[in-house]
Amino acid sequence: MSLRAIVTGGGSGIGLATATLLAERGMKVACLDLRPPGEPFVGIKADVTDDAGVRAAVAEAAERLGGIDVVVNNAGIGAQGTVEDNPDSEWQRVFDVNVLGIVRVSRAALPYLRRSEHAVIVNTCSIAATAGLPNRALYSATKGAVLSLTLAMAADHVREGIRVNCVNPGTADTPWVGRLLDAADDPEAERRALNARQPMGRLVTAEEVAAAIAYLASPEASATTGMALAVDGGMQGLRLRPAP
Ligand SMILES: NC(=O)c1ccc[n+]([C@@H]2O[C@H](COP(=O)([O-])OP(=O)(O)OC[C@H]3O[C@@H](n4cnc5c(N)ncnc54)[C@H](O)[C@@H]3O)[C@@H](O)[C@H]2O)c1
Repeated sequence: MSLRAIVTGGGSGIGLATATLLAERGMKVACLDLRPPGEPFVGIKADVTDDAGVRAAVAEAAERLGGIDVVVNNAGIGAQGTVEDNPDSEWQRVFDVNVLGIVRVSRAALPYLRRSEHAVIVNTCSIAATAGLPNRALYSATKGAVLSLTLAMAADHVREGIRVNCVNPGTADTPWVGRLLDAADDPEAERRALNARQPMGRLVTAEEVAAAIAYLASPEASATTGMALAVDGGMQGLRLRPAP
């Protein structure tokens, strides 16, 4: 029987690439998004900040897929600035999407995951959880919370046979980063700086992040839980000398 997956933020970027790859590998996939995609996915309009809406969307996904085995908590938004730059309301808004969004979707999906023979949650975290990046205080704090939440959830649910892992992408070439570049004073210089920050000298692709998510979501990773898999062009682990 094919596995059944839900992907939040499945309408764009990393989420859409993940939904596409999971479907190519034979899973039935529902995408929960503010702007959900159509065929071949089960597209369900959902806002991860709305608990009642999330419960209804997860129940609808389970109904239409015939159950849930895989949850990819990927919906997220960015924020720029130091601790001086954002008002409390913005801190609450970004935590509401990036952290509480995962809580709401996971909470709604757990009853279905408990009935699965292959239950797994994969969260999209970030290099910002493990490296100090300038001008990203709020965003980084949310992703640090996602990393810790991943570990805690992995501990809570391991004896129920539910694995929980996350991926930590470096800067990935998605519509989101395209918007960031468009907003920069000098988009080309900004792209060069982002490329140079990753030891491979280029941005990560959405497909590369999707491949890591698909691995963690697959039965091939059945002994892996409570782990963060970096997909960051070497950004976290390597310390290079300047290029000659
Ligand atoms: N692009 C990067 O460089 C990068 C790096 C590290 C981590 N990430 C993480 O990857 C994830 C996806 O980012 P992306 O670059 O593909 O972005 P994206 O903007 O291309 O896609 C994000 C999707 O999430 C959806 N979304 C946003 N708020 C939502 C909400 N409240 N409810 C439901 N859906 C919502 C959007 O509609 C969109 O379809 C995010 O969690 C992000 O933090 C991205």
